[in-house]
Amino acid sequence: MKRKTLTFLGLLLVLAMVAAACSSDSEDTTTTAAGGTEETTTTAAVAMDSQVEVFSWWTGGGEAAGLDAMIVVFNAAYPNIEFVNSAVAGGAGTNARAVLASRLQANDPPDSWQGHAGQELIGTYVAADQLEALNFLYDEMGWLDVMPETLIPLISKDGNIYSVPVNIHRSNVLWANPTVLADAGIEMPATLDDFFTALEALKTGGMEAPLAMGEQWTTMHLFETIMLASMGPDAWTGLWDGSVAWDSAEVTQGLDDFAKILTYTNEDAAALAWQDAGQLVLDGSSAFNIMGDWQEGFFREVGSEPQTGYIWAATPGTDGNFQFLSDSFVLAKSAPDRDAAIAWLTVAGSLEGQDAFNPVKGSIPARSDGDRSLYGEYLLSAMDDWATDTVVGSLTHGVVANDSWKSEIDTAIGLFLIDGDVAGFQAALVAAQEASG
Ligand code: GAL
Repeated sequence: MKRKTLTFLGLLLVLAMVAAACSSDSEDTTTTAAGGTEETTTTAAVAMDSQVEVFSWWTGGGEAAGLDAMIVVFNAAYPNIEFVNSAVAGGAGTNARAVLASRLQANDPPDSWQGHAGQELIGTYVAADQLEALNFLYDEMGWLDVMPETLIPLISKDGNIYSVPVNIHRSNVLWANPTVLADAGIEMPATLDDFFTALEALKTGGMEAPLAMGEQWTTMHLFETIMLASMGPDAWTGLWDGSVAWDSAEVTQGLDDFAKILTYTNEDAAALAWQDAGQLVLDGSSAFNIMGDWQEGFFREVGSEPQTGYIWAATPGTDGNFQFLSDSFVLAKSAPDRDAAIAWLTVAGSLEGQDAFNPVKGSIPARSDGDRSLYGEYLLSAMDDWATDTVVGSLTHGVVANDSWKSEIDTAIGLFLIDGDVAGFQAALVAAQEASG
């Protein structure tokens, strides 16, 4: 009954958005949002036959499908605006963000782009004055009532809100092949020690690389979850607010653990995308992969099923902690198609947009009123954990450090992958923090 009511109200919202969009001089529209509250939507008076350029790195493996699902909602609501999808391939935006940086440098911004909530947004784009504040849209859409309180400070500066979060992703997830584990008589490891024991047993049993890894950003991703496991949430968070020293013994211990974990990974990691590393687990060539929950979007897209094809747990040693990141979309300062970009952001922040996007993308909605019946088993567990766990930020995906600090850490990781020198690595991390100010 409740579900039917929500679906009906959702339909009303889309119809109202369509009606508003079709009217060339549309202004205020009062709609009933799912959940029953009234939302007054000031729909931008979008010129007929306009377009919006949206920039992301969602080009494959569940991610493109998720974006496509949200574009369907957008097209239904705004049939007169052409959606120009300027996605650039490459996991974690490694390529896309380089292209974006040169476009911003050349004063040629896309109307709206994907930017992670946290320091990537505030310490990079806001610091460079590249974004328009969106408080007016939050007021009009009533978003402060439905977006998590923990997220708003991460997308705000001096009272101005700078992006529209579309999801919450979890980075500290261990994915495993259940058949491989059962055949080897291994349980899903809960602690780092259990994990080392399992990895060693699999290696001794003849599996060359029990932990699948991909290109360098996935190494940083592994690093952040192992440091969390080794140090605990308070110390991990303390690394970013200056209360825990990078030359401390607990960092040394974390780096030792990380170095040890790397000995169980595949030698061709640098040549593999995150999806390739996930595929090694599905194939049974590797038993485990540590990756954000977009990996489940990929698993589902290639037809694998939870419990039989893959199982999951928090990265060993991190149960009760939710290492998070949030994809959000921004409005470029002087966006070439400002009104159309606002229309896009309206959909990105809507319940319909988020409930179309997230079940496919492999993330949970940023909004707190998502329709649970649309989400699979893993994502339901993520929703529950997000509500109860200790929340800490991701490094690789923009929450805890701005781009310049992160790039110094990335350089240090690159060198460490070559020389394996833990002391040198730690010294480089200390220097990275000093350079970041
Ligand atoms: C992250 C992003 C996710 C996913 C992942 C892999 O940075 O937040 O949505 O796209 O990269 O590409």
